[in-house]
Amino acid sequence: MRKILKIGLPLLATSAIWTATAFCEGGPKPSEQPKATTIQELVDRYDSSSCIECHEEAHEQWANSLHSHSILGTPRTAPTIITAMEVGVKQFPYSGAKEDKDITVEHLRMCTKCHLPQLEEATDDVAREIIATIKGWQKANKEGKEKEAEQLEETIASLNINCRVCHNKMAIIHKWADGYPQPDTVYGSQDGAHDDPDFPKMAVAPALGESIFCGQCHGQGPSFELDHPSQCATIYGSYLFAYTAEGGSESCQECHMVKSGLGHDMQSYNSEVMIKMAMDVKVEGRSLFWRKNSEEGVLPMGIINVEIANKAGHTIPDG
Ligand code: HEC
Ligand code: HEC
Ligand code: HEC
Ligand code: HEC
Ligand code: HEC
Repeated sequence: MRKILKIGLPLLATSAIWTATAFCEGGPKPSEQPKATTIQELVDRYDSSSCIECHEEAHEQWANSLHSHSILGTPRTAPTIITAMEVGVKQFPYSGAKEDKDITVEHLRMCTKCHLPQLEEATDDVAREIIATIKGWQKANKEGKEKEAEQLEETIASLNINCRVCHNKMAIIHKWADGYPQPDTVYGSQDGAHDDPDFPKMAVAPALGESIFCGQCHGQGPSFELDHPSQCATIYGSYLFAYTAEGGSESCQECHMVKSGLGHDMQSYNSEVMIKMAMDVKVEGRSLFWRKNSEEGVLPMGIINVEIANKAGHTIPDG
């Protein structure tokens, strides 16, 4: 294993560079659109409802995944964002935020960098609207106002990682070499005309089939590029440094989308299939008798050997 490791590493490094420079039909940086000024405007900009009629299966699978409600979460994420603001950002002496009205996109970015990357295209008013909506939802829940809570929950869930986020915004990683995602194109594994009038073209984005694509949000460790780094997901780091470094060769997509048969319903321990894929457990037991000393005499003893092998491509659990 050690020997393979030494030869393996430089090869992995070059293959990563080649993947990055493979052909991809991005283009020049599109001129920046005016920022979205409300949650609704941001949601409309990424509206993926037109995709449903032709890609029903992908949509159904996606709708069951956590990507379809990445700010609401299980629903543990939204309340944790509030906690991060209340006991973090608002308490820090140099954050510039003392009250909700001071919260900006930059403050939320310590979470939305991965939970809602498109928030960078919105004004600070949207950041504050998100905080107010989550707080309103928490209050309505507390007061048993079911209808109101349900409505607010829907708004929170409309902030998500959907078709357009993955197949456009996040699809191209090395933009200087491969170009920027174009507003009329969906990116996948083929080139040609595409039937959606809003997206008349489809083009190849090789990164989409590679682990690095998921790595954009699934974390390597602290997000050092932020003024105040946060750490949540670390699976991409563990995949790179503990799985591929030990000879592992499958991609996130191969395990989570293909082998699992779950496609766009990317899952973990909430799915029977993933649990079965997670580990091998071997248990061996034997009993014997042991003569301890003259007072206590012969005692029964059991020896149990447990061997657990993690078959996932990274540490489990994460976060
Ligand atoms: C009117 C029907 C229609 C609509 C609407 C539509 N698509 Fe498609 N799309 C297709 C067809 C047909 C293909 C080609 C499928 C094939 O060859 O397997 C395709 C291919 C794609 C591919 C390339 C798949 C690959 O092979 O890698 C992606 C990505 C994609 N669509 C995403 C979207 C997204 C995102 C939306 C919504 C914004 C959307 N589509 C809306 C019909 C549609
Ligand atoms: C590096 C990207 C990244 C950042 C930054 C990030 N998260 Fe996460 N977070 C994820 C991913 C990916 C998952 C799910 C997968 C996992 O747990 O490995 C997750 C899972 C979670 C979960 C558990 C999921 C659930 O629904 O119960 C919570 C809660 C959460 N994040 C809250 C936050 C909060 C609050 C912040 C900001 C303080 C934050 N995250 C910052 C990527 C990130
Ligand atoms: C979290 C990111 C993500 C989201 C969200 C997402 N996709 Fe995909 N999609 C992928 C990846 C990754 C692949 C597979 C790429 C590969 O293995 O080459 C893929 C493949 C596809 C394909 C090719 C055929 C197939 O089904 O494998 C189509 C079509 C497609 N997606 C449409 C959609 C539509 C429509 C939505 C919204 C309902 C959507 N995707 C949401 C990441 C995403
Ligand atoms: C744009 C950012 C983004 C991309 C790209 C992305 N994810 Fe995620 N993913 C998230 C976030 C954020 C969550 C957690 C949402 C929550 O619960 O709050 C998540 C959740 C998950 C979960 C569920 C974890 C759990 O605890 O059940 C799995 C599995 C997963 N992602 C796999 C993938 C795979 C595989 C890819 C690549 C094909 C991918 N993701 C691409 C951001 C992303
Ligand atoms: C060799 C197969 C395999 C590969 C490669 C793989 N995964 Fe997983 N992953 C699994 C299995 C199996 C589980 C379920 C573990 C469990 O039951 O807790 C899992 C769990 C997860 C979870 C949930 C972690 C938690 O808290 O329990 C996330 C998120 C995730 N994977 C994302 C990814 C991403 C992103 C990649 C690529 C960087 C990736 N996986 C590569 C098999 C794989």
